[in-house]
Amino acid sequence: MTDQAAGAPPSAGPPAGCPAHPDAVALSGLPFQQTPARLYQDMRRRHGPVAPVLLDGGIPAWLVLGYRELHYVTTNDELFARDSRRWNAWDSIPPDWPLMPFVGYQPSVLFAEGAEHQRRAGAISDALVEVDQFELRRHCEHVADDLINAFAGRGQADLMADFAHPLPLLAAIWMCGLPESETSDMVKDLTTSLDAAEGEDPVAAYLRVQARIQGLLDSKRAAPGPDVTSRMLAHQAGLADEEIVQDLISVIAAAQQPTANWIGNALRLMLTDDRFAVTMSGGRGSAGQALNEVLWEDTPTQNFIGRWATRDTQLGGRHIKEGDCVVLGLAAANTDPEVRPDALGGVAGNSAHVSFSHGEHRCPYPAPELAEVIASTAVEVLLDRLPDVSLSGAPEELAWRPSVWMRGLDALPVRFTSAYVV
Ligand code: HEM
Repeated sequence: MTDQAAGAPPSAGPPAGCPAHPDAVALSGLPFQQTPARLYQDMRRRHGPVAPVLLDGGIPAWLVLGYRELHYVTTNDELFARDSRRWNAWDSIPPDWPLMPFVGYQPSVLFAEGAEHQRRAGAISDALVEVDQFELRRHCEHVADDLINAFAGRGQADLMADFAHPLPLLAAIWMCGLPESETSDMVKDLTTSLDAAEGEDPVAAYLRVQARIQGLLDSKRAAPGPDVTSRMLAHQAGLADEEIVQDLISVIAAAQQPTANWIGNALRLMLTDDRFAVTMSGGRGSAGQALNEVLWEDTPTQNFIGRWATRDTQLGGRHIKEGDCVVLGLAAANTDPEVRPDALGGVAGNSAHVSFSHGEHRCPYPAPELAEVIASTAVEVLLDRLPDVSLSGAPEELAWRPSVWMRGLDALPVRFTSAYVV
């Protein structure tokens, strides 16, 4: 394929030489939370498969809305690369820019390129492949039961805070082999560093997480176990301690937020859509269907920042300059009318979505499978334990988090007949 990716050129608007285009769409605001599908459809109609956008503070970038263009960008990682230090806009970005946690370069697998990326991502994949998925499922059942036990007697809960958020974090920490005695301190610090509440200090929490992971490395070096950390220490890539610490934090963070929102968005679908109501008491048959549907309609990583052009090129009829930032519009690409499987009988059983991205930097094998074990166990155990669970309020009262990056609920308040603690 040439630099000109497949896909129609934009149907309207002047050709843009840079993303600071007069028509650029601010990548913020309520429509991204409330009606993103309609918004992306609108943007596609006005701008074609690649739209000029403005990030926080009016920083220009490109949003890839087309499925084919997204495949092109992620497949050609030597042209659209991952190291954010390539950005030609750094001079206009203040140090306290809100998106800095996502784009500020860190020496982790996330920003590595070429052979270095293969070395780091290969070690992660090899360490994850050895996770016994039956054991993971069993562990998630225990964790789910414990979390439900904590609120089962109340007859009401917020399934995001009380269930969907802690479960994948506990599963990821367990895969890394952290002793149970250290779990609660680690969860507290990781939660603060990933998603600080008002008055909390995410930087101090992050430094404590780093120190705890270094401590974990020291103990696994002395006494290896059947866990991801021990396997990364022993890996033939010969990773330095700092590399393993960075990459374990990336793995845990990458597992927590999207899997939590995958669980929450699937539960929301099952609790609000009549197609799932009839099987609600049985539950099991429809959890997989809801989880798959959510990856097409409400994917947890709505937009991902990003890739940086290594030279001037063309994409979807746009001229992209060397160093321009390209945002992966994963949700938009999934709803691209050119590839939607609806005409073929719907999304059921079809996993051609790009919710785990694509290409060299995609969510690494077998992380999507592990995420599915965690998410399906969570949904199934919850429906088994609380068969009459229902929303506490009207579906329209559910609020999405104010983010253009992650698609997840602020809270998922439910009620149910008080259940026995098991
Ligand atoms: C056990 C759970 C998970 C683990 C351990 C995990 C791990 C990772 C890691 C290590 C990366 C960085 C890959 C790289 O830069 O080379 C990554 C990227 C990513 N993951 Fe996952 N992940 C998990 C669950 C999920 C879920 C549930 C979703 C969404 C449905 C998701 C979507 C993504 C996306 C969109 C990327 C960005 C890929 C890119 O740069 O193109 N992940 N994941």
